[in-house]
Amino acid sequence: TADPLVMGIESSCDETGVGIVRGTELLTNTVSSSMAEHVRFGGVIPEIASRAHLEAFVPTVRTALADAGVRMAEIDAIAVTSGPGLAGALMVGVAAAKALAVATGKPLYAINHLVAHVGVGLLGDGGELPPHLGALLVSGGHTEILAVQDITSDVRLLGSTIDDAAGEAYDKVARLLGLSYPGGPAIDRAAAEGDPEAFSFPRGLTAGKYMGSAENPGPHRYDMSFSGLKTAVARVVETFHAARRPIPVADVAASFQESVVDVISRKTVLACTEHGITTLLMGGGVAANSRLREVVTQRCARHGITVVVPPLSLCTDNGAMVAALGSRLVAQGVAPTGIAFTADPGLPV
Ligand code: KG4
Ligand code: ZN
Repeated sequence: TADPLVMGIESSCDETGVGIVRGTELLTNTVSSSMAEHVRFGGVIPEIASRAHLEAFVPTVRTALADAGVRMAEIDAIAVTSGPGLAGALMVGVAAAKALAVATGKPLYAINHLVAHVGVGLLGDGGELPPHLGALLVSGGHTEILAVQDITSDVRLLGSTIDDAAGEAYDKVARLLGLSYPGGPAIDRAAAEGDPEAFSFPRGLTAGKYMGSAENPGPHRYDMSFSGLKTAVARVVETFHAARRPIPVADVAASFQESVVDVISRKTVLACTEHGITTLLMGGGVAANSRLREVVTQRCARHGITVVVPPLSLCTDNGAMVAALGSRLVAQGVAPTGIAFTADPGLPV
C-alpha cells in the first residue's frame, strides 16, 4: 500500500503550523506566526495568539495543500497537537482539526507536542530513529531532556527546568539589558562581542545537594533552573544604574549566556551518559543558539554522543513534526484518537 498522506496541525503557542508528509517524506512545512503582534508586549499574549490562530487556520491549511500539491480529499489522516501549551491556543487548533476531520471524514490523531519535537527525526532517511536516542528541547516554553526508547510508546522525561524555560530566561534578561524581543537572537549577537568571564553568574541546581551522585541521585540531578540567574543579572544591572554607569551589555550578555549554556550542556551530558544515550536530537528555538550548539556538541563528543540539530524551521514549532509523528502512528496501525479528547495545556510526555 502507498505511504499515508498525513496533515499535522500545531497551535500550542504563537505558530499556526500545517505540515503534510507522505510516509516519512516532508511535502510542506507551512507556518504562520503571530510573533510580530506580541513584540510590543515583550512576550506572547495568549489572547492575541488564540485569535491569530483562528484567523490563520483556514489560510494556512489552504497554503499547505497548495504547496504540497495535494487536495484535501487525498489526505489519509489528520494529526493535531493536543498539549502541552497555551490553553486557548491549543483549543483553537484542536477545535479546528476536529471540525476539519468531521467535515472531511478523516481519522484524527491527538499528538503530544514534546514528543512531536522528537518526531522531526523521523523525516527523511528511511524514517528510522537512531537507537539509544535522547532529546534536548529548549524553547521559550519548554526546557526538557528526554529519553526516547520508542517514540510511540516510551518517551521519558529525565530532567526539566523547575522555573523559567531557557528561552524565557533569554527574553527576560534581554529586557533587563534594553535589548529587543525576542531576546534570544539579540543576546546571542551581543554576547559575541563580550567576555563570558566578565561576571560570574550562578549555575542553577549544580550544587552537590541537588546533584547527588550517579548511585544516589539528588532531587534535581538533571533539572535546570534559570530564575536565580535572571535575578543575579538584575542585581548587576541595578548596581550599574545606581552608580550611573553604562551597563556593559556585551559582557553581561556573554556571561549570562555562558551560565545557561554551561548548565544545559552539563545536565544534558550527565543525563545521556547515565542513561546510555548515544545520539542527542536538539529541538526548540534556543537550538538556534550557536554557543549552545557548540558546547553541547563538544561535551557530547567527549562521551561518544552524536548531536543532531535539524534545520531551524523544524526546530521551532511547526506542523511537519506533528504530521511526522501522526504518520508513524498510522503506519503502525494505531487506532485514531477520534474527536472525544480535549486540549490539555499541562499534558506530560
Ligand atoms: O521554539 P520557539 O520559536 O517558540 C517557542 O517558545 O515555542 O522558541 C522561541 C524562543 C524565544 O525565547 C527566543 O528568545 C529563543 O527561542 N531564541 C534564542 C535564539 N533564537 C531564538 N535563544 C538563544 N539564542 C538564539 N539564537
Ligand atoms: Zn515547541
